[in-house]
Amino acid sequence: MRVSLEQAIAELKKGEVVAIPTETVYGLAADATNDAALKKIFAIKQRPVDHPLIVHIGDISQVTDWVTVFPEVAVRLAKAFWPGPFTLVLPAKSHVSRVVRGDEPTVALRVPSHPLALALLKQSGLSVAAPSANLFTQLSPTTAQHVEAGLGEAMPVLDGGACNVGIESTIVSVAANGQWQLLRPGMISEEDIAKIANVKLANVTASDEAAGDVDIDASQVTPKVPGQHALHYSPRTPLRLFNDRVTLNQACETFAEAHVTCVAMLIGKGDVPSCTAITLPDQPYKVAEQLYSTLHSLDAMKVDCLLVELPPHTPEWAAVFDRLSRAGHQ
Ligand code: TXA
Ligand code: MG
Repeated sequence: MRVSLEQAIAELKKGEVVAIPTETVYGLAADATNDAALKKIFAIKQRPVDHPLIVHIGDISQVTDWVTVFPEVAVRLAKAFWPGPFTLVLPAKSHVSRVVRGDEPTVALRVPSHPLALALLKQSGLSVAAPSANLFTQLSPTTAQHVEAGLGEAMPVLDGGACNVGIESTIVSVAANGQWQLLRPGMISEEDIAKIANVKLANVTASDEAAGDVDIDASQVTPKVPGQHALHYSPRTPLRLFNDRVTLNQACETFAEAHVTCVAMLIGKGDVPSCTAITLPDQPYKVAEQLYSTLHSLDAMKVDCLLVELPPHTPEWAAVFDRLSRAGHQ
């Protein structure tokens, strides 16, 4: 059910949950200071309660309402990347809801850049916790239609059009001593962050671990962070990952012989002879923007298997690589 900005604010103030647009993905929002409202998010998403939520704030000046320290490195990062697809995890003040923190001593904060999200935060004066507006482990929504398809027509949705970043924010934790760590790759890259933070790159990231050979077994990636499940962001249709088109094409031929139907998603020009394919542009930003909507469409085709070509394992593709690795089934 589509709602206006005013209706969305009224619902949030009543302690209800509303799906809101952000530049990354649609979020399932609730007042971040209202435990009863926050619990509705977990119930609707069927999300484990120890998975903390990101608190969306309207302005950098609000950070100190939530955290005990705002280290210089974090201030620099916030000034560089907010409003935008970037989340900071910092030591939480004791009054911050344990529901929002998933019982962690830290809280995740982000100032989104989507104009409707910012208008909602500024006009309401609220801070809203918002995980992606999908059922736990399923594909994140990047349109209002995706939200309704996943959570039902009765869910109030503030329609802000298609999300133009397309995948979830980069998450960085900063300790009181200024040490930072990349918790989730996103379109703001680790290199972008290192430049601003001006310290050495963190050692091992979740995406490094996920980067195996062909056909990654996502179930073997150890979660490093609360809520960073290996099997995440998945379409319902089984999805297999390939490093090259020759192997992908061979798999398709083998499947065809066994009467298993499949479609391919390729990155960059060209096609594969044995398989119907959707081709995404050879640019990380464009692939990110179209990734979930393409997977939603492929899922809707109801084939037996999705065959997905992985992008190169290079820094500019890290976030797309991470999401695809997590979406892969065996
Ligand atoms: O782009 C985004 O970040 C989207 C939009 C809606 O803003 N939100 C989003 O939320 O992706 P969600 O719930 O799908 O991801 C939140 C993740 C958690 O799973 C966890 O990994 C991390 O953020 N997180 C949140 N609070 C944390 C904390 N206190 N410590 C460590 N990680 C935390
Ligand atoms: Mg999510």
